[in-house]
Amino acid sequence: MIQTLEWTDSGVRFIDQRKLPGEEVYVICNTPEEVADVIRNMVVRGAPAIGVTAAMGIALGVRNSQASRAQELEGEFERICDVIAKTRPTAVNLFWAIQRMKRKFESLRGSTIPHTKQALIEEAQRMHAEDIAGNRAMGRHGATLMPASGGVLTHCNAGALATCGYGTALAVIRAAVEQGKKIHVYADETRPFLQGSRLTAWELMKDGIPTTVISDNMAGAMMRQGKIGAIVVGADRIAANGDVANKIGTYTVAVLAREHSIPFYVAAPFSTVDLATPDGSKIPIEQRNIREITHIGGQRVVPEGVQVENPAFDVTPAKYVSAIVTERGVVRPPYEESLRQLAGEKVSAVTGKGQAESSGAQVRSE
Ligand code: MRU
Repeated sequence: MIQTLEWTDSGVRFIDQRKLPGEEVYVICNTPEEVADVIRNMVVRGAPAIGVTAAMGIALGVRNSQASRAQELEGEFERICDVIAKTRPTAVNLFWAIQRMKRKFESLRGSTIPHTKQALIEEAQRMHAEDIAGNRAMGRHGATLMPASGGVLTHCNAGALATCGYGTALAVIRAAVEQGKKIHVYADETRPFLQGSRLTAWELMKDGIPTTVISDNMAGAMMRQGKIGAIVVGADRIAANGDVANKIGTYTVAVLAREHSIPFYVAAPFSTVDLATPDGSKIPIEQRNIREITHIGGQRVVPEGVQVENPAFDVTPAKYVSAIVTERGVVRPPYEESLRQLAGEKVSAVTGKGQAESSGAQVRSE
């Protein structure tokens, strides 16, 4: 399996996703500042991978601490969490992971400093293992939604590289293929960072899953020609009403899917569901450096001085989402109810407050 990130004796090791598919090189981080940088500059990317990276960055910071008193360590811990929090704003998994590490730290009050350090490292490693196990469960739940054969379109990279392994949207595809379904993947190239053509194509080729890369503006024509039987994408944040923030261009795909009566599925771990955010209009959208648009391979492709925008994500309204696949099962509209039912007593990643449970919505666990 591709090792997107891992805790090693020499530091946290990342495959450098900026260099793929041309070069398979690795970056090692030993401080929270280095980890913040690799998140910001997209050595590592994808919501679940960002979450576990955040936890490992915090664990590194605590491990490095010279504090001799608990109070001193507490001050440092808060500072480390702030460094990690100020990286990328859209993927709620980042804040979910920070909250989880804070709760762990809190539970260790009264422990010795060496014990606290070890326990936080183990918590981050546990999150890594849980992510992979959750993705496998997500794959099993979602595979039943995939057609027995034919084209499945995906946007961006919601694969092993966007997680600790196996992927989310690509977990659904992988599990369907493992069950014997004859799927041909259409991978949107995903301008401007090209996660689809560089990363999704690379990892599906490694698995021997038939894949065709298309430029983003070809998706509608492919749907019209009957080549696409289903669409499955990942998510960076799912609001309480089922609105989905994902890579820019996802909204366009969802609207096109509706026009062509093609099911549009979202696969994400439950840590991507943010019940504290009522709808998509409240999700912060990261604006990235316009150089990602103005330059390709270091070469300027846009006239100097023209205005450029580069929002990294868009929001797909819940009405376009046929079902959401999580490791806990598959939910369908109305999402206000089904997501809360799936949550049980979920603690919000952002506020830390418990959310009320409701019932009556459709929750299905295959
Ligand atoms: O900017 P990125 O590459 O971090 O964006 C990634 C996506 O939009 C993914 O679809 C999403 O994080 C889900 S990854 C399982």
